[in-house]
This record gives sequence, C-alpha cells and structure tokens, in this order.
Amino acid sequence: MRPTLVFLQTQCLLCVFVGVCVPDVVGSLPHALPWHVSCPSRCVCQIKPWFSPDSVYHEAPTVDCNDLLLTKLPLPIPTNTHTLRLQSNLLSEIDTALLHRLPNLTDLDLSQNRFTRVRTITQSSSLPSLLSLHLEENHLSRLPDGSFSSLPTLQELFLSHNNVHSIAPGAFTGLDSLLRLHINNNRLTTVDPRWFRSLPHLEVLMLGGNPVEVLPERGFQALKSLRSLVLGGMGLRSLAEKALEGLEGLESLSFYDNRLTKVPTQALRRVPGLKFLDLNKNRIKLIETGDFRDMIHLKELGLNNMEELVSIERAALENLPELTKLEITNNPRLSYIHPQAFLQLSRLESLMLNSNSLSAVHQHIMLSLPSLQEVSLHSNPLRCDCLFHWAAKEASHPHSEDTQTDARTARMVRFIQPQATLCSEPPELRARRVREVSSREMSASCLPMIPTSSLPSYVGVREGGKLVLHCRALAEPQPELYWVTPSGLRLGPAPSHASKHLPAPAPCHSLTASEGFNHTSASSASPSQDDTPCNPSRPYQLLPEGTLEMNKVTPSEAGLYTCVAENALGADTRSVTVGVHGREKKRKRGVAANIKRYPLYRADARLEVREVGQHYAILSWQTGRNFPSTRLSWQAIYSNAHTPTYTTRILAGTQSFNLTHLQAETFYRVCLHLGVSEGAKHSGRRSRESKKTHCVSFRTKDVPEPQPSLQLSPELTSTAVTLLLLALILLLLAGQGWDTEGAGKYHSTVLQDIKSPKALVVNQKTEGSNKHTPEQSDKLLLHQDC
Ligand SMILES: *[C@@H]1O[C@H](CO)[C@@H](O)[C@H](O)[C@H]1NC(C)=O
Ligand SMILES: *[C@@H]1O[C@H](CO)[C@@H](O)[C@H](O)[C@H]1NC(C)=O
Ligand SMILES: *[C@@H]1O[C@H](CO)[C@@H](O)[C@H](O)[C@H]1NC(C)=O
Repeated sequence: MRPTLVFLQTQCLLCVFVGVCVPDVVGSLPHALPWHVSCPSRCVCQIKPWFSPDSVYHEAPTVDCNDLLLTKLPLPIPTNTHTLRLQSNLLSEIDTALLHRLPNLTDLDLSQNRFTRVRTITQSSSLPSLLSLHLEENHLSRLPDGSFSSLPTLQELFLSHNNVHSIAPGAFTGLDSLLRLHINNNRLTTVDPRWFRSLPHLEVLMLGGNPVEVLPERGFQALKSLRSLVLGGMGLRSLAEKALEGLEGLESLSFYDNRLTKVPTQALRRVPGLKFLDLNKNRIKLIETGDFRDMIHLKELGLNNMEELVSIERAALENLPELTKLEITNNPRLSYIHPQAFLQLSRLESLMLNSNSLSAVHQHIMLSLPSLQEVSLHSNPLRCDCLFHWAAKEASHPHSEDTQTDARTARMVRFIQPQATLCSEPPELRARRVREVSSREMSASCLPMIPTSSLPSYVGVREGGKLVLHCRALAEPQPELYWVTPSGLRLGPAPSHASKHLPAPAPCHSLTASEGFNHTSASSASPSQDDTPCNPSRPYQLLPEGTLEMNKVTPSEAGLYTCVAENALGADTRSVTVGVHGREKKRKRGVAANIKRYPLYRADARLEVREVGQHYAILSWQTGRNFPSTRLSWQAIYSNAHTPTYTTRILAGTQSFNLTHLQAETFYRVCLHLGVSEGAKHSGRRSRESKKTHCVSFRTKDVPEPQPSLQLSPELTSTAVTLLLLALILLLLAGQGWDTEGAGKYHSTVLQDIKSPKALVVNQKTEGSNKHTPEQSDKLLLHQDC
C-alpha cells in the first residue's frame, strides 16, 4: 500500500511541477453538452470542455471513438471537429486526406494504437490548427528528420511509452510553437543537443524513463524557454558540471529515481532560477556541507525515498532565502541531521522528516528556522531525552530567559500527526506521545548513541574498491568520534582529556605514505616501536563528521572496525566487520577464499604496569588488533582474605587505563580480557580465539612517613624510583608466586619501562569506576562513583 501512496504523491508533486493538475478543476465546470451532428457509428459526438496548452478554456466539438478496435478512420467525421479521440484502437495508418478536411482539428489523440512510423500520420497533410498530438503507447521506433514539419502550430507532442531509440538531429524541425514535449519512457540512450535547436519556445520537457546514463555537456542549451525538465528514472549516476548549462528559465527539475550518489551541486549552480527540485529516490548517501547553498529562488526541495541516505551534514542547506518546504522522508537509514545542518533558511515553513531513522532533531535545528510552522516527525525511533526538551509538554529551561522564549517558540511549531509521533527511548517512555511527555520526565543528560541504521554489522567491499563507513552520534554535549581499525590503530582526534604529564603519542613512522600500510608489520611490531594512536594520512581518511574512507582496499584491510562516540557523560561503540571480496572470476570459491585471506592477528597483548601510586596504578597494553569488547578486572590480594573482583569495560582503541581508588600498600592482580565478540558474527572462525586474558600484579605505594626533609628534597625523584623498584621487586615475587598465567613473562619489560617511560595515552576518564558488575551493554556510563 505504502509504495503506491508514495508513488502517487510523487506523481502529484511532479504534476504540480509540470502544471498539468488541471483535471481537478474540470469537475466544477459544465459537463459535456449535446452536439447535433451526424456522428460516425459507435462514436460519441459532444461539445466538451477543453483546455488549450496555455490553459485557456474552450467548448470543443469532440468526436470520441475510443476503444472500438478500429483499423481505419471512422466516417463521417464532422468537418468542424475540434477534438478527435481515437485512443485504444488498432490503427497502424490513417488516411491523412480525411484529416486534411478538418480545418479546425485542434486535438488529435492516437495514443494506444499500432503506429510504427510517424510519417504515416504527418505525411503530406498540413494540419494548420493542430495544437495537440497524442501518440503515446504506439510502436514508434525512430523519428527521422522533419517528422513533424507539417504541424507548424503544434504546441504539445506526446511520444512517451514508444520504442523510440533513434531521433534524427532535425526530427523536430518546424515545431516552432511547441511548448511541451513528452518523450519519456522510450529507449533513447543519448541526448543530442541538435534535437532542441528548433524548439526555442519549449517550456516542458519530459525525458525520463530513457536509459540515458550520461547527459552531454550543454545538451539543453538551446532550450532558453524551458521551465520544467523531468529527468526521472534514467539511470543517471552523475551529472557533468555543464549538463544544465543555458537553462536560464528553468524553474522545476526532477531527478526522481536515478542513481545519483551525490547531490549534483556544480550542475545545479548553472540553473540559478530553480524553484522546485526533486532528488527523490536516488543513491545519495550524504547531504554534504554546501550541497545546497545560495540557491536563492528554491522554494521546495524533496529528498525522499533514499535507501542509502545516512546523514545530513553541517551546513548542508545554507542561504536558501525562498525555501518554504523541505521534505526529507522515507529514508530508512537516515539517522543523523547535524544540529547546524540548516543555516539561513529564513522562510522555511514546513519541515517533513517523518519515516526516517532519526532518534532526535536537535533543538538548534528548530531554533535556526524562524518561520517554521509545522514539522512532521512521526515514524522515527525518537529518544525522549534532553535532545527533545524543546518539544516537551512545558518546555522549561532554567538557564536563561532567552532560551525559554526560544524553546517556547520551538514549541509553537505544529506537529503533523502528533498521535503517531511517539518516543521509542528510553524504555520507560516508550510509546508515549512526544508532545505529551513533560520536560521533567525527560532525562537531563544525553549519552552518545550511534544509531544502528547508519552502520550495518557487515560491509562487503571489492578488492581495490573504496570503503566508506559512516558513523554518527547525537548527544549533548556534542560527542567526539573516533575509529579503531582491525589492527588496533585509533583514528581520530587525539583524546582531549589525555594527561598533560605524559608525552604525546608518537607519529606512526611505520605507516608513512611512501611505505603504505602494512598490517603484518604493525601487528608484529617490535617492543621498541611505538604504534599507539596515530593518524596516518593514508590510506585512511577520517572526515570531520565521522566517516571513515579508504581507497584501494586490499584483503589485508578486512576485519573488525569499531566506531566510538564519546562525550563527557559516556560513550557508545559500534563495530562493523569489513569483508574484502577478491577479484578472481571464480565466484564459487567466494566466501571460503575470503576467510583464508583474512589477515591473522595474534590475540596477544603486552599488559604492563606503567606507574603506581598509593591509590592508583596506570596500566597499559599493546595489541596488534582491534578488540572492541575488552574488559579489565582487578582484585586486591591479601594473604588470608577473599576480596571482590572489579571489572570495567574498556573502550575500543584504548591502550591504557588509570585504576583509581586503590588501597595503599596492597598487592593487586589485574587482568585484561580481550574480546571481539561484538559485531564479529560474520567471522565465526575467529570466535574461538576471541577471548584471551593477560594478567599482571603489583603493589601500591606505601603511605610516606611525615618527613618534611624528604618532601622538599631534590632527591625526591630518585627516592620515588627506589620505592618503585622496591615495589617492583615485590611485584616480581608476586608475579612468580601467584601468577601462572602470564605476568611472569613481562617482568623485564616492566622494569625497563618504568625507568624510561615511553609514549602513553590515558584514554579513560573513568574515575573510580570500581563497579562490581559492569553493564553488558555497549553504552558506557562514566563518572559512576561508588
Ligand atoms: C472553425 O472555427 C471557426 C471559429 O470557431 C468557425 O468560424 C468556423 O466555422 C469553423 N470551421 C468549420 C469548418 O466548422
Ligand atoms: C609487510 O610486512 C611483511 C613482514 O614484515 C613483509 O614480508 C611484506 O613484504 C610487507 N608488505 C608490504 C606491502 O610492505
Ligand atoms: C591517575 O589517577 C590518580 C588518582 O585519581 C591521579 O592522581 C593521577 O594523576 C592519574 N594519573 C594520570 C596519568 O592520569
């Protein structure tokens, strides 16, 4: 049911564009009047309402011979016939001499017949009054030069739904008055600019439904009067910069149902007069910054029914002073609209956002649209938390009076279908109407949430192809996003909260552009090589809003990628398995071959104690691989007492952790549990080795004796080192005594490292997260003091 509705809506949108929604008006006009004339047998002769192509009303003597299985013209046709309808017959040729005797023939409908050659109709007979010729749904295949030269007054020519695959350059010569040309749904594969040279007054051109994949540059340049151009359903993948050059009067343009992957911004800049633009049903993934900028006459924009659209970026629509209606609906993966996506849309009244995957519409969006009157948000998985305060029952902002006024303004906006605009998060507000939830019920904090619709759990890419992964998250405050590659590299902004005491991460010298990226070497890096967080310029590219791009993907880049969105309140993570499909022609080998080609990473990690204080210890580790579901557990060890084990989840890409709230002078055993279970369902083979545990033990520092001389002594550092060494010796003993699993292997490294601490990043800001049972969910709530 829904697709039909959508289709109808679109058709209606189109016909509004094209200006043919006249039939609605007909109902209120006088019906057919009797016409007393000798009428051909079985035909109906009446005086009927008729509109000229320029919408002037006429009372037209009409002969209606539709659906009569006619193979030739019926006789006698009254000489003052204005409209002759011969739709749905079996005509393949007609006696043109008979038509010649109808000096007032204005509208001739020959649609749904069996004409194969247009010349059989237009040949030798001049039809001096004919304004409208219908030849839809015939069997025409080619239009030779001068096909219509006997129709000098023709204003409308309908040739859609034929088999036309060839049009001679001069086919339309002589159609000086033509206003409307429909040649949609034929078999044209190219557009020849010469066709249009003889159509200086053409206003409407329907060219859709032809398998034209590439439009020529300046193809429509001759159409100086064109107002409406419909290029729907053509298979267009992109548009040359000058494809629309010269269409100075163009007001309405439809690219409905093509394969565009980007908004054809450059081409659109050549049609500054555009008022209506339909980009529905294309393969556009992102509406990017500047895609619609300075289109100063644009009134309505449609971005509906796009299977692949995931995000509307910052300043995607900017300075569109005439835009009144914006439709972005039925995009099943659209989960993110940047809070500043819409800038300077001073006249936008109607914002349709229903039936997407949006979890929220940021208050900034509402506040940035001063003329907004109505918004439709139903059929979205809305989260009724702080991001939706603007819509709450009684929007209250304790911060300032201004925001209160703003919020009230936002609240004035009418919701379309408020009864269907429901919360789907949090669970306690599920199925409540957004407009009926009070702001008190909406939580004040907004954890980052990566919508599942933007990032599937598996993405396949061809070897040598381009991999694009989109990760977006809405939260308040705005979250920071980063990616972790299969080899455990963190890509993205450096952690802003990294300790100032520690040196910045070393640049990834093993990953320079000239050498390319070698996973094997990265994973087997020698201990002296520091391949902790870095931002290689190649082959990865991280776009500002959180998209990871990679050109020329090789099989070694397959594996688990994890996106992390983090703000001061917490974090959300989501992993995607990337499979690289080989280029071999043998399809059969398919999956099996691919799995073999997965790079094999050892599930190894070097867990080290970097620094120990009285009440904290900094642990760090290195893995040659992304372990998105890693946990750290710790336990105080007393000789004769059982103590609880604490566990915390570690964010992907994190390589160190500050354990806090420890007891002084106490032995601790810490274990790192590496896991890839999250999102790795597609690589069942690896799940066997997906759990590895590495442990170390240490002792926290002693509480110093109150000795002022020691505190002021310049030898403090060396004293500390001595203390530390003491602790470490104890640790070694501890490691040998209690740890059979692995800590023993690392003692020499630990000693080395403490003496010359290397680059280290503390990514965790979990303060005192000594939480007994961690949440199994991916969401990580930080600042959870016990
Ligand atoms: C054609 O139309 C004109 C104007 O409506 C009218 O005067 C004339 O008689 C018509 N011709 C015939 C053959 O009916
Ligand atoms: C990657 O590293 C391995 C082992 O270090 C080496 O054998 C191989 O040639 C390297 N590949 C590239 C493309 O550099
Ligand atoms: C680790 O946590 C302790 C206690 O909160 C703090 O004093 C110390 O500075 C932290 N170390 C780093 C490197 O962040």
